[in-house]
Amino acid sequence: MKITVIGAGNVGATTACKLVEKDLANEVVLLDIVEGIPQGKALDLWESAPIEGFDTRCIGTNSYEETANSDIVVVTAGLPRKPGMSRDDLLEMNTEIVKNVSENIRNTSPEAIVIVVSNPLDVMTYVALKVTGFTAQRVFGMAGILDTARFRSFIALELGVSVRDISALVLGGHGDSMVPLPRFTTVSGVPLAAFMDQATIDRLIQRTRDGGAEIVKYLKTGSAYYAPAAAVVEMVESVVKDKNRVLPCSCFLQGEYGLEDVYVGVPARLGSQGVVEVIELELTAEEKEALHKSAEGVKNNIAKLKL
Ligand code: LAC
Repeated sequence: MKITVIGAGNVGATTACKLVEKDLANEVVLLDIVEGIPQGKALDLWESAPIEGFDTRCIGTNSYEETANSDIVVVTAGLPRKPGMSRDDLLEMNTEIVKNVSENIRNTSPEAIVIVVSNPLDVMTYVALKVTGFTAQRVFGMAGILDTARFRSFIALELGVSVRDISALVLGGHGDSMVPLPRFTTVSGVPLAAFMDQATIDRLIQRTRDGGAEIVKYLKTGSAYYAPAAAVVEMVESVVKDKNRVLPCSCFLQGEYGLEDVYVGVPARLGSQGVVEVIELELTAEEKEALHKSAEGVKNNIAKLKL
């Protein structure tokens, strides 16, 4: 198992760190265009192996040749948001970056499963699909696990209960119109509405929608990375171990939920082949409308792409 992480910034390096510590691969390759950074971070990580007790070799490089024949490629390359920016403001610059990365993946790791993390997430995943020419089963994006984790963490804080007992679902694009679904959110199997009133639920939903921006506002020079990296690793683990976890991911829809030719967050079964199944839930008219509105925003950005 060879896993490549493209981009040695905070998200990429933290993802590599979590991957090696979990010993999920024989080799983790960290690639960046900046000379020295991936080499330095990868060597530093490798030097932690004797202490942490993992065997995954960690290699840093500026050359796609060293990533050749990866089984999984995680794409974190791109510019992060600055305070006041929306994820959509990154569209033009990150399209060029993700296009270039995708061409290189196509040429060096033609069999890889590609997990996209760059923003605006759903649109960048679409770019990776079109440019690699891989099947949609092998190209998907990380967002739903992060958004869901934020919702779960806020509910846990509010109720003073363990996050482990909270199960939640957030659908839609990874943007301001994402769709947290309280109807599918439970505390140890008990619907959320039994624990808090609608006003509290609405407040936590809004905080979830603004979750990425809340971190950007604090950090000022970049966006979140610990929770995003943890979310990527959960997806990678389900693929590597063929666990068939049901996880919210940005998937290419081809008629599911009445949507077509667009990436949005939906629950999916992840196994060794990638997205093994997109799980279609019965939504209320209101939930469906919110999902379609969110997908519309992604589609508008897809229409602006020059691929
Ligand atoms: C966030 C950015 C990474 O949600 O999209 O934190």
